[in-house]
Amino acid sequence: MENIIKNKIKKFIRLGVNIDHVATIRNARGGLNPDPFRAAKLAVDAGADVITVHLREDRRHVTDQDVIELIQNINVPINLEIACTNEMINFACNQKPNSVCLVPERREERTTEGGLDVVKFYKRLTSAINKLKENDIKVALFIEPEYSQIEAAASLGVPVVELHTGIYSNLKSNLMLGELEKIKNIAKEVVKMGMECHAGHGLTFDNVFEIAKIDEIIELNIGHFLIGEAIFTGLDNAIREMKSILLSSRN
Ligand code: PXP
Repeated sequence: MENIIKNKIKKFIRLGVNIDHVATIRNARGGLNPDPFRAAKLAVDAGADVITVHLREDRRHVTDQDVIELIQNINVPINLEIACTNEMINFACNQKPNSVCLVPERREERTTEGGLDVVKFYKRLTSAINKLKENDIKVALFIEPEYSQIEAAASLGVPVVELHTGIYSNLKSNLMLGELEKIKNIAKEVVKMGMECHAGHGLTFDNVFEIAKIDEIIELNIGHFLIGEAIFTGLDNAIREMKSILLSSRN
């Protein structure tokens, strides 16, 4: 298992584009524009390998209907980020996205603030993961780069973990190195334990290269920065540039 994953990881790294904030802008006026579905199609044309969306309890970004339309019509995998609640697990099992990434969610937070505490919520996660697996949905857990968390994720039998890069992304450059080392070491352990390693949160043109260079990480999910950058250079250019940084990191 470890060798199969090792061979896969050297060759490529996927870019998951998170289009939530197109919906955030649309929802600010309550109308139809800008259209997240149009953004998803454009993102795929620009090189996105995965489209990621976070269906929040308060539906402040995408709506149920947005997710359904994406699953039915976009021809790259749809990665659905959700909290581990009955409502969300049932929605995922009915709509069958390619993958589900379970994230922590607090209604009052501006964005996902950290990784899931897999150790604390082990029991609740067990039944949710089993249900998703029964529906052939690939399950990922969004967690802090901590050994106790990946160990618990491995014992839950998930195929993927997504490492939270938010702390790394928010640090000043001299302090970033320590967090980067931590992510590198944990990514190696993730693969040794037989899981795929993804990462994301807070990544930009300036900080993504060092993360993308970590061979064990085979998918990055990036949203807020790309949608912001699109204001200045267009979504197509922003995604193409991000993709080219990812690919150049593997040379
Ligand atoms: N990965 C996960 C699990 C997330 O919750 C988010 C934010 O929705 C991202 C990646 C993307 O983070 P950002 O928008 O900061 O690029």
